[in-house]
Amino acid sequence: MAHSEVRKGKISSKGMRNALKLFSYIKPYWVEYAFGLFFLLGSSLANLAFPKLLGDLVNSGTEGEIAEAMTRIGVMLIALLLIQSVFSYFRTVLFFNVTEKSLADLRQSTYNHLIKLPMSFFEKHRVGELNSRISADIALLQETMTSTLSQFVRQIIIISGGITLLVITSLKLTLFMLAVIPAIVLLAVVFGRYIRRLSKKVQGEIAKSNTIVEETLQGIQSVKSYTNEFFEMLRYRKKTLEIAGIGMKTGRYRGAFTAFIILGMFGAMVAVIWKGAILLAEGEINSGQLFSFVIYTGFIAGTIGGLAGVYARLQRFIGATEDIFGIFNEDNEKLKELDSTMVKKNRLRGNIEFRDLSFAYPSRPGERVLSNISFSIVPEQTVALVGVSGSGKTTITSLIMRLYDNYTGEILFDGKSSRDFDLEILRSQISIVPQDIFLFGGTVGENISYGRPGASEEEIYKAAVQANAMEFIENFPSGMDTIVGERGTQISGGQRQRIAIARAILKDPRILILDEATSSLDSESEMLVQEALEKLMAGRTSIIIAHRFSTVREVDNILVMDRGRLVEKGTHDELMKITNGKYRTLSKLQYID
Ligand SMILES: Nc1ncnc2c1ncn2[C@@H]1O[C@H](COP(=O)(O)OP(=O)(O)OP(=O)(O)O)[C@@H](O)[C@H]1O
Ligand SMILES: [Mg+2]
Repeated sequence: MAHSEVRKGKISSKGMRNALKLFSYIKPYWVEYAFGLFFLLGSSLANLAFPKLLGDLVNSGTEGEIAEAMTRIGVMLIALLLIQSVFSYFRTVLFFNVTEKSLADLRQSTYNHLIKLPMSFFEKHRVGELNSRISADIALLQETMTSTLSQFVRQIIIISGGITLLVITSLKLTLFMLAVIPAIVLLAVVFGRYIRRLSKKVQGEIAKSNTIVEETLQGIQSVKSYTNEFFEMLRYRKKTLEIAGIGMKTGRYRGAFTAFIILGMFGAMVAVIWKGAILLAEGEINSGQLFSFVIYTGFIAGTIGGLAGVYARLQRFIGATEDIFGIFNEDNEKLKELDSTMVKKNRLRGNIEFRDLSFAYPSRPGERVLSNISFSIVPEQTVALVGVSGSGKTTITSLIMRLYDNYTGEILFDGKSSRDFDLEILRSQISIVPQDIFLFGGTVGENISYGRPGASEEEIYKAAVQANAMEFIENFPSGMDTIVGERGTQISGGQRQRIAIARAILKDPRILILDEATSSLDSESEMLVQEALEKLMAGRTSIIIAHRFSTVREVDNILVMDRGRLVEKGTHDELMKITNGKYRTLSKLQYID
């Protein structure tokens, strides 16, 4: 069950305030909701009248003959049942309508917020956990709004209305009943609270085990290539056994709880009927009254029994709203939707400058990944970033994209601080062909058009040709409509790369960043791609990251990174002249083999 993962919140004023936020989502549909409430109240009240009429029916029977009253009450009872069923139908339909519409809004705004959160957020939260938590939370809200809330309202009406009617019938018997039932309820609450704590633990463990499943299935290729299936099976087995253990313990307590409730409730029933029989014998009440009294008591007892469950679900409901609205408390990147005039007005010339920049990833604040980096790139130049693995090349490109904001020093575009740009204006003019290319599960064509949604078929085709991707696309039986598989797993690495290049070309950026763009190509395709890239780089600022130095010889400027520092800069020829220079050393190493 999905909602078993949802944590419980405190029914406190703070918790309630979060829950109330939900009502801003219901507000647009309040008319339907009000009608729903009306039908709920109506059906609950009809429910309440039921035992009273039954009692009257019994009484009319004791008068010895088939009285007119009997028929009348019978008809009333049937009418009551009709009203109740019609009302229940409309109540259910209306509540479902309101719930589905307002939760669709909530889902949408949660997603809207989530997708705009900065990278630092996603590094602190596992995506699978986040996703399953949100869907569990929303499933729980759904259940609460469609059934738990109305159950709760009905319970309150039955308990308060029922007791009022009982007092009218017989104060003595009511007092007797109230002396017995609340004691049992009190015990039940204490017992129930302990059980709840246990099930909470189960929920936590289930979430952990789900993470194992999700991660290993996502990374199935790594699992298989290391033949770690048995290791993972064992890891999962340990968790499932643990969950089963706690779950069974919960079961034992829950069993005892149920037994206790049955014993307590039926015991109380017996006591009440016994007391009622005495009052009947003494002539204080008549048999119809006793009859409806017993049914009311059953109603009330059953309701009180269900109250604990509803209470627990309401707690989870509070927990779910806290979780969901907690996401809204995270600051997002405040992106605006772009219109083309905005970009035209803020067109970048393509000058990039880093001034004494230092940076640590938010997930590892202690580890400085870039230290005091300063460089300047002239518009429309091509610059290469080189350096051993882990020296900070990709990090520099992430900062140019401003995926992270927590750097010190300055990044300037055309002399203006990166922080003073609207993010969407900045990012819309930068294309990255990243190191690990991510394709969406759709078709080749869709993946290329991701560079500029709304591009025409012709433009997509042109971009594919420029990226030298057309030759393999044409060989696919369904061409542009070929499905690339989940995350692009059904095509080769080099093909993926050229699709990513086509995507970047389609975006027509001012600044182009190629992170190892030609690494998974054979020499012939590399030449083709290189050729395409050269055309692509003309007229824009380009930054290329390459491990193979053969590809960087011709560039205007080379930046050499070493352990987060910029150690050398210059052209190939200049850098080769530095004796014991980093570039020269690295370059020599490459030509040995
Ligand atoms: N998201 C991240 N969170 C924390 N640390 C990171 C993150 N990404 C990279 N790092 C660390 O930052 C350092 C620089 O990484 P970066 O990816 O910039 O290196 P690189 O020069 O691109 O290496 P490569 O040539 O292997 O691609 C490394 O020590 C790496 O472990
Ligand atoms: Mg890298």
